[in-house]
Amino acid sequence: MGAPLNICLLPGDGIGPEVMRQAQKVLDRIAERYGVTFTCHEALIGGAAIDALGTAFPAETLEAARAADAVLLAAVGGPKWETGNPDDPRPEEGLFAIRKELGLYANLRPVRAYDQLIGASPLKPEVVRGSDVLIVRELTGGLYFGKRDRTYDVPGAGPGGAPGQYAFDTMEYSEYEVERIVRRAFEFALQRGKRVHSIDKANALGVSRMWRQVARGVAEEYPQVEFREMLVDNAAMQLMLDPRQFDVIVSENTFGDILSDEAAVLCGSLGMLASASLGDGTALYEPVHGSAPDIAGCGIANPLAQILSVELMLRYSFGMQNAADALAAAVERVLDEGYRTPDLADSHTDPSKVLGTEAMGDKVVEFI
Ligand code: IPM
Ligand code: MG
Repeated sequence: MGAPLNICLLPGDGIGPEVMRQAQKVLDRIAERYGVTFTCHEALIGGAAIDALGTAFPAETLEAARAADAVLLAAVGGPKWETGNPDDPRPEEGLFAIRKELGLYANLRPVRAYDQLIGASPLKPEVVRGSDVLIVRELTGGLYFGKRDRTYDVPGAGPGGAPGQYAFDTMEYSEYEVERIVRRAFEFALQRGKRVHSIDKANALGVSRMWRQVARGVAEEYPQVEFREMLVDNAAMQLMLDPRQFDVIVSENTFGDILSDEAAVLCGSLGMLASASLGDGTALYEPVHGSAPDIAGCGIANPLAQILSVELMLRYSFGMQNAADALAAAVERVLDEGYRTPDLADSHTDPSKVLGTEAMGDKVVEFI
């Protein structure tokens, strides 16, 4: 048996701890089947960290994440921390801080229309069947990290010329940041369908015009990969009209955030989407979905996105392709056999096969 693999677990808020428990069961099973040792350490992030320590990203969490071989995060946020006071800490700050501190600039969000779930998508089966898209979202730049401010009592900024508030966020990118994310996208395209769509808003934004120029330069180095450019508004429509035209999509932070939630419609539920955030060091894995405070504690959350995040971790951080394939196959089998969490169920689902969070986790473990 090799050296233990250290995983920093960040369960966070809402359904986070419930889905994280299922991922831990899966890790235990993988450890047993593949003769590896995972040493898991839990740390605080988001609202849970605000409650305990007054900050969404405590220094000890950064230390634990840096010391780990990989980080597995669940979700952060919830109405409890929406205080309306702009000076109060926000759970999401923990997310942005860990992405930035670990340099996780490349966020991979694979979206596949599982044949078994075609009926769970509101789109026509003939449109979604066979869709398989990898969204490569830039994660440490753009609107999320540019210059920003919110000021009060600014003369003329209120209604009717009265004093009022003024706020701004800025979309900023350096050529270097664009180059490295576009290059990552091309590298993934080489291993997949050999097509890259670069998404921007070049007809309106200067940042996008630079993005386009840089992306074209990178594209020239990859003659084996077909390169297409698309404006983000059109891309949003094309994703629903003809998703099979896409293989790898690369875009800036905000556009990637929006397009990935939209793309979830292809596979029927946001509860299926996992993501990998890669930089040059320790990587982080998390579901695309949020903390779903409305169903927290009800035992009905879909744990598959969290479990599939473990699959990505095995693949990209630990080089355990066989274990990752076995985990992916176990999820397929669960779906083949008709098991569904409530978010995936439709009118054809056998009610006896609608499972809660724990039972779904157990099914996956059983099939590994
Ligand atoms: C995501 C989420 C986050 C983001 C939120 C919770 C801040 O939507 O990871 O897609 O916008 O990055
Ligand atoms: Mg999002």
